[in-house]
Amino acid sequence: MNGKSVDILTHFNVEKDIIIREAAKEDFNAVFRFIELVDSEFCPPLSQRGGGIYERVRNTLATPDANYLIVQTKNPDPSDKIYGFLAIVGCTRGWHGKDRAYINFFATHPAYRKAGLGEILLAELERKLLEKGIDKLYLCTWTGNKKAMRFYEKLGYSIYSVILNDRGRNINTFNYRKKIEPAKSAKQ
Ligand SMILES: CC(C)(COP(=O)(O)OP(=O)(O)OC[C@H]1O[C@@H](n2cnc3c(N)ncnc32)[C@H](O)[C@@H]1OP(=O)(O)O)[C@@H](O)C(=O)NCCC(=O)NCCS
Repeated sequence: MNGKSVDILTHFNVEKDIIIREAAKEDFNAVFRFIELVDSEFCPPLSQRGGGIYERVRNTLATPDANYLIVQTKNPDPSDKIYGFLAIVGCTRGWHGKDRAYINFFATHPAYRKAGLGEILLAELERKLLEKGIDKLYLCTWTGNKKAMRFYEKLGYSIYSVILNDRGRNINTFNYRKKIEPAKSAKQ
């Protein structure tokens, strides 16, 4: 974790209350339900893209170079269908090159936004990728997703190409990238 503390996270004490861990195959259902929860915020919704959410999660968990990194409460309620998941990033390594990775999913639970969780999670992903020799991270977002654009831009990502009308009339895809610097990543 990157040392952020309770003054930023209103709901959590980072060291005491949350963990960040990679998903295991057993997390399939909770990851699936978490993505369902935020599905309608994506354009187009992930459920409407090829294979839907099921195939997306299955492929990510089955591919050795892909996985989800999860922020989770330390003591989730066993009856909680999303198992205390607060934020998830999906990442595919070796994307168009050994030193590149692609973020294939990113969301914070709607009830826990603007508390710094997304920033903590992305910093941890970057740190883990650097450890694996990956220093170029790519992602995309779309016209109208201003909070995501602000989020990524604040964290050092910049647009390198725009695909006009890619997701419908006047809905463009914005491709972002960042060169991850060791000194600026977490735990440095
Ligand atoms: C984008 C998203 C992941 C941000 O997660 P988060 O945990 O709320 O982000 P953080 O609390 O770490 O915010 C970090 C920065 O992002 C920006 N940001 C986050 N939410 C914002 C909002 N609603 N409006 C404006 N800026 C916002 C701010 O710059 C914020 O910094 P600040 O707190 O100093 O102002 C979250 O809004 C989300 O899940 N959105 C829906 C799914 C989505 O669009 N995913 C991205 C697909 S490309």
